[in-house]
Amino acid sequence: MTATANTGGGSITISLDGTNKATTMKLLVGTVGPSVFDIRKLYDQLGVFTYDPGYGSTASCESKITYIDGDVGELLYRGYPIEQLAEQSNFLEVAHLLLNGELASGDKQKAFDDGVMRHTMLHEQIRRFFDGFRRDAHPMAVMCGVIGALSAFYHDSLDINDPEHRRISAFRMIAKVPTIAAWAYKYSIGQPFVYPRNDLGYVDNFLYMMNAVPTESYTVPPVLSRAMERWFILHADHEQNASSSTVRLAGSSGANPFACIAAGVASLWGPAHGGANEAVLKMLADIGHVDNIPQFLSEVKDKNNHTRLMGFGHRVYKNYDPRAKILQESAHAVLAELGIKDDPLLDLALALEKIALNDPYFVERKLYPNVDFYSGIILKAMGLPTSMFTVLFAVARTTGWISQWKEMIEDPSQRIGRPRQIYTGPARRDYAPAGKR
Ligand code: ACO
Repeated sequence: MTATANTGGGSITISLDGTNKATTMKLLVGTVGPSVFDIRKLYDQLGVFTYDPGYGSTASCESKITYIDGDVGELLYRGYPIEQLAEQSNFLEVAHLLLNGELASGDKQKAFDDGVMRHTMLHEQIRRFFDGFRRDAHPMAVMCGVIGALSAFYHDSLDINDPEHRRISAFRMIAKVPTIAAWAYKYSIGQPFVYPRNDLGYVDNFLYMMNAVPTESYTVPPVLSRAMERWFILHADHEQNASSSTVRLAGSSGANPFACIAAGVASLWGPAHGGANEAVLKMLADIGHVDNIPQFLSEVKDKNNHTRLMGFGHRVYKNYDPRAKILQESAHAVLAELGIKDDPLLDLALALEKIALNDPYFVERKLYPNVDFYSGIILKAMGLPTSMFTVLFAVARTTGWISQWKEMIEDPSQRIGRPRQIYTGPARRDYAPAGKR
């Protein structure tokens, strides 16, 4: 194989030695970030595929939603730095931004907020789904099941080719997932379901459904509200991560958006992805004390051991994840506001981070804290049980998933996602009857 690069024209020509086959691949240039070679004609013209398990070098789509500079540690939603949005914006404003491309204001934002909030109720029949689960079911199992079931109820917004159906489905997903999440929690602790209150706004309504009981009045503490708003903004989107790619792949076949988001929830659940926030707290509890950190890290570094330092490392970030930086800084503030003077888990996490960041194993591999390292500490301080951490991630990420899904459906070059493979199994062979094998 011979490759000739034409940097001036931004293309590369590859010819297969011994054949007259050649292909020219154009370099496609984005607004920022690495350019990509357009390999779409490669198979037609050369008869070969590319091989990239885990997609380390593959751009699966064109997107205008979220940009990550992993070397610098920068995250932008539609161009806006995550730090500015986390500090100054609110979740529904960010949802509008992700979904529609621009920040809205005044009546436009209000219409969006109202549009989302009027869909918070679940069809009453959906209540019965919860009774089918064991009380000790993991809430993510309940999320997978009940979100998937939504497509059995909202038939009037399932035409993916109708922009109005897409708009209503997006509102329904963003509005109903918090209700499902809160009810999954209430079910697990045996308390009555609390119906949504649209006058409270998105984040407060969620905290209300989580914490209120019918026997007492409940006001959402502003400190919880602010902390959760920021937490939701930080988790709203993260370009083509495993769960968003799952949503896109499921949606590429024309599946309805409720089914696609259920697929995203399933993908998020894994400990290498959103399940890591729960795993971090378990890890910290297992380590128990600062004195045990060296022993724990030696297990992590042992190649014969499958232990990982949870909340560390990222496919894209080779620097500090900016979300982790915000959460680390706000962990102190949130704990102080909640009146928690000393949190042994935060102290342990800080010590663990410091030791790991000075350890050659982590330095050489560019492993830094990711969003999950500090997020669970804040959620725990807010009184949320560990089993709900990944559920909260799913609530926030639903906005990103539905934005990615909408962008894909509206992309004229969209085709069903169908990866190829290198086959290394047996070549053709003949079947032999049982007695002759
Ligand atoms: N602890 C110990 N070693 C690690 C860790 C870790 N957390 N992460 C990566 N490494 C090591 C690998 O063993 C590998 O070492 P090697 O080159 O000697 O074989 C090297 O670093 C590269 O790791 P990969 O697994 O190839 O990196 P990849 O990009 O595939 O994985 C991932 C990224 C899944 C996030 C990984 O870093 C990990 O498992 N982290 C812990 C789980 C976690 O925190 N997940 C949350 C990610 S953020 C999110 O999804 C919200």
